[in-house]
Amino acid sequence: MDIKGLIRIIPDFPEKGISFKDITTLLKDGKAVKYVIDEFCEKAKGLDVDIVIGPEARGFIFGTAVAYSLGCGFVPARKPGKLPFDTINAEYVLEYGKNSLEIHSDSISSGQNILIVDDLLATGGTLKTTAKLVEKLKGNVVGIFTLIELDDLKGRDQLQGYNVESLIKYPY
Ligand code: PRP
Ligand code: MG
Repeated sequence: MDIKGLIRIIPDFPEKGISFKDITTLLKDGKAVKYVIDEFCEKAKGLDVDIVIGPEARGFIFGTAVAYSLGCGFVPARKPGKLPFDTINAEYVLEYGKNSLEIHSDSISSGQNILIVDDLLATGGTLKTTAKLVEKLKGNVVGIFTLIELDDLKGRDQLQGYNVESLIKYPY
C-alpha cells in the first residue's frame, strides 16, 4: 500500500527550512490506518511486549492502537506538568525547540518489555528520551517503531543498540 503518497508535505512549517510531514491526510484513511497498525504489530511479533509507550502527542495516536491490537497496556510519555502522580522526567532537544517528557514513576515495572511507538524519527531526541525514561524504571526497550524516518537528520545514530524500525523514509 502506498502510504507515503497519503502523507502531505508542508514546506517551511512550523518554521523556514522545515519540511513538515503532515500525517492527518493518512489518518483520515481507514485502510491506511489499519495497514500502518498491522505493519507495526507484524514487526512486534516475538518481542513479547508488555507495554507500549508513546510520546505526546502523535505517539498517542499510533501507540494506543498498537497496544490495543497487541492486547497490552499503554503508557503516555507526557509533556511537563500534565501527569498528576509522582513522575520521572528527562530533557531532550527537538528538531525545532527544546522540551522534556515525563512518565508516572509507577507506570513501568522492573523487567517489563516495552515497545516505544511514535510517528516520526527526526533527530532522535524524543525517542532517546523516551527510552531513557523506560530504562530509569528498569524496563527493557524491545523496540522503537516509527511511521516516518528522516534519514539525513541521523536520528538512528542516537539510537544505536536498539531495535529501530520505520515504515517510510524521507531524506529530511
Ligand atoms: C514531533 C514528532 C516526534 C518528534 C521527532 O513531535 O511527533 O515525536 O517531533 O523529532 P525528534 O526525533 O527530533 O525528537 P513534537 O514534539 O513536535 O510534537 P507532537 O507530537 O506533540 O505533535
Ligand atoms: Mg511527537
